[in-house]
Amino acid sequence: MLHKTLKPFPDNFLWGASTSAYQVEGASLEDGKGPSCQDVKEVPEGTSDLKVCADHYHRYKEDIALMAEMGFKAYRFSIAWTRILPEGTGEVNPKGIEFYNNLIDECLKYNIEPIVTMFHFDMPAALDQRGSWSNRDSVDWFVNFSKILFENFGDRVKYWLTINEQNMLTLVGPVIGTMTIPEGCTNELKEIYQQNHHMLVAQAKAMALCHEMLPDAKIGPAPNISIIYPESCRPEDTIAAQNANALRNWLYLDAYVYGKYNNLVWAWLEEKDACPEFAPGDEEILKNAHPDFIGFNYYNTSVCKESDGTEKGGAISQQENSGEAGLFDGVKNPYLKTTEFGWEIDPVGFRGTIREIYSRYHLPMLVTENGLGAYDKLTEDGKVHDPYRIEYLRKHIEQIQLAITDDCEMMGYCPWSAIDLISTHEGVVKRYGFIYVDRDEFDLKTMDRCRKDSFYWYKKVIATNGADLSDEC
Ligand code: BG6
Repeated sequence: MLHKTLKPFPDNFLWGASTSAYQVEGASLEDGKGPSCQDVKEVPEGTSDLKVCADHYHRYKEDIALMAEMGFKAYRFSIAWTRILPEGTGEVNPKGIEFYNNLIDECLKYNIEPIVTMFHFDMPAALDQRGSWSNRDSVDWFVNFSKILFENFGDRVKYWLTINEQNMLTLVGPVIGTMTIPEGCTNELKEIYQQNHHMLVAQAKAMALCHEMLPDAKIGPAPNISIIYPESCRPEDTIAAQNANALRNWLYLDAYVYGKYNNLVWAWLEEKDACPEFAPGDEEILKNAHPDFIGFNYYNTSVCKESDGTEKGGAISQQENSGEAGLFDGVKNPYLKTTEFGWEIDPVGFRGTIREIYSRYHLPMLVTENGLGAYDKLTEDGKVHDPYRIEYLRKHIEQIQLAITDDCEMMGYCPWSAIDLISTHEGVVKRYGFIYVDRDEFDLKTMDRCRKDSFYWYKKVIATNGADLSDEC
């Protein structure tokens, strides 16, 4: 659709950025924090462990001051379950409550809206040993944790996100270090989708609890959503793209919003004898969730064609899928450039994704992640020139404005990441932040913060409420 005039960003648009606890905080076993699955996993060879990360735990004041300098209206961060409950259940760690009280208060001091993710890839190690999401008790564990969060922080936190990228936990759990398959499991697919079902029920219960305990708060999910194109106009390729979209995207959003399983995925699971078991009451729980908005992470689209029926290996990273036998085969997009780390760059697909989500679910949307991972370099005069990031973000923000002009309801934009942190599996050298952290993979150097060029650029974008997206900083 070609628009003659663009609609402005809403006055209360939440400009900000995101991080997650296990990737940014460090202090991984300090002040009573218990280990999470991320602390005990074997990190990929050549990449940093997660003990120090950006040391946000000790430097949050400096970091929030820098975010305030950029003019942030919102900061999306996650709460480490094991800082609050070292064992995942049981005794609450007062030091953990204190840290997040301080972090929230620091945000509010600068009128930065805290947007809290309740679970971002960091299952308590103690609960991992009890089967993680494969154990039906995981529903109660998560609801208990969420109740503690609502009780302690609900007086100040107005925006909540349940589970970060549940679809990636399900599709690429081993890549991000989160999947536990019980020994002796004979039907892995069924096991994976049973875990997924427990997450669906857990987050639905947490949403209902949030509405009951905090009537003024808003809560939503945060899956990784991006549309998948058919390779050609061959009708078979369109059917394949429908399969792929159902498996990656709609399964999750259909369940969150309508409380129903996507029919295409259900039919596929049935054929594989992999449908999850429902406990009594699950159907009703799913139907009673009602998110207030859809949070979603967007990095890039993908392409697929009709499956030739052979196994291709499935999802290989959050953004790449080689295909599922009988559903679709993944192919490269010849029209798009990629980042230094091989992820395709598709700003127009961002608009397409926003339009598609809105036309299916009609809920306001919050972009909870979007961004470019790159090998940024600190120059001798203490600067980081990252024009590629400015270009990436500018092009994506332009597409949000087009989507707003298409009458899609957008609440805010929180790209990944506020500050450099550790990537899920590619170390600290895959940097995303507006704020550079002076450390390398294994050398902690000074840990000083440095404003990248994109820092100044984003500051201007926020100051003009998105009216000035020009390259000048
Ligand atoms: C998302 C996650 O998948 O993408 C983040 O929610 C992650 O935790 C981000 O860091 C970027 O991915 P990666 O693999 O480059 O760190």
